Amino acid sequence: MSEKNLAINGGEPIRDTYLQYGRQSINETDVALVLESLQSDYLTTGPLVNEFENKIANYVGAKYAVAVSNGTAALHMACFATDIKEGDEVLLSPITFVASSNAILYCGGIPVFVDINKDTYNIDIDKIEQKITKKTKAIIAVDFAGQSCDIDSIKKIADKYNLILIEDAAHALGSEYKGKKVGVNSDVTCFSFHPVKPITTAEGGIVTTNSEEIYKKMMMFRSHGITRDSNILLDNQGDWYYEQQFLGYNCRLPDIQSALGISQLNRIDEFIDRRRQIVGQYNKAFDNLDEVITPFEMNFSNSGWHIYVIQLKLEQLKASRKEIFNALRAENIGVNVHYIPVYLQPYYQNLGYKKGLCQNAEKFYERAITLPLFPAMTDKDISDVINAVKKVVAYYRK
Ligand SMILES: Cc1ncc(COP(=O)(O)O)c(C=O)c1O
Repeated sequence: MSEKNLAINGGEPIRDTYLQYGRQSINETDVALVLESLQSDYLTTGPLVNEFENKIANYVGAKYAVAVSNGTAALHMACFATDIKEGDEVLLSPITFVASSNAILYCGGIPVFVDINKDTYNIDIDKIEQKITKKTKAIIAVDFAGQSCDIDSIKKIADKYNLILIEDAAHALGSEYKGKKVGVNSDVTCFSFHPVKPITTAEGGIVTTNSEEIYKKMMMFRSHGITRDSNILLDNQGDWYYEQQFLGYNCRLPDIQSALGISQLNRIDEFIDRRRQIVGQYNKAFDNLDEVITPFEMNFSNSGWHIYVIQLKLEQLKASRKEIFNALRAENIGVNVHYIPVYLQPYYQNLGYKKGLCQNAEKFYERAITLPLFPAMTDKDISDVINAVKKVVAYYRK
């Protein structure tokens, strides 16, 4: 293939328009439900918040769900409600968005990074126990790309050391672990409804749990630490009376956004089916592309495929990840990278975390590229991605 062929070298790009790596899918029913809620009596907290929470709880099979303004607030609330406090150590994988780790810091806790498993890119279960100390309070299991962590194995360790298990399932609404929906397998599970996520409420998040105690604390957390529940009030001075019992926040999800969430949840099967179809086509197309490692799914998992991340075998290529990334972008394929290991961020480096801490995670980061994946992709979009990857890899093949 001549050098001119690559768009980055002045050749024709695979497509004329830029294909994003992920995006929402909004239809007329979504719009109609949002409009209806806009014209109702409630814009902020109204009946649709509760309806959305019940529908999510029902969908994942959990007793309780508490909706909040975004996935980060969901993680913060989960850490707060499970009593993570000053000096508590919390174990997690560094291959995640910074929010998973920041939530620990918000509560005064100390993130302790455990390396990833080379195949699943989730936390390496064999390395968890080495990082447990007297100060360890919890584990945050991040379901990277939508693949559930091996929760039973993590739970066994958590039980042995009396640790709380928080699942960051921002990628994993609709995914399954051993035939059960993600959302019911850990003490608390956090979801995000950001537009690239399995369903969207624009900004939005939710925490599911089976614990009544955690649920009650979360209901207060999202509303300044205030309660009107007569079972919880210390006093009762009249119908106007409420009490702030701890320092909470305002991170409520409005009714308008809950309307969108309800409508989107009705469409989740359709979304996930399409994501699985696209992944099937990618896997097939890259099966004999020796320079690329495709995602590996454990047999206990049935992923909803939030993202599709390939790894480049750099030893077999004449180019770095950055050059290949830039070449794909020039072809108008909106590739991305998930994730920079959290502790390599300048803020975390200033806290004292050192490069080299999690070597599998760092190696993964140097080689990873996220390809576009979202339900509204057309067959032409899919073949453009496949052709672009093949074109760029062929050009840089050693
Ligand atoms: C793994 C993970 N955790 C947490 C979050 C935070 O979610 P949000 O963007 O809704 O605050 C995200 C989303 O970006 C995420 O990918």
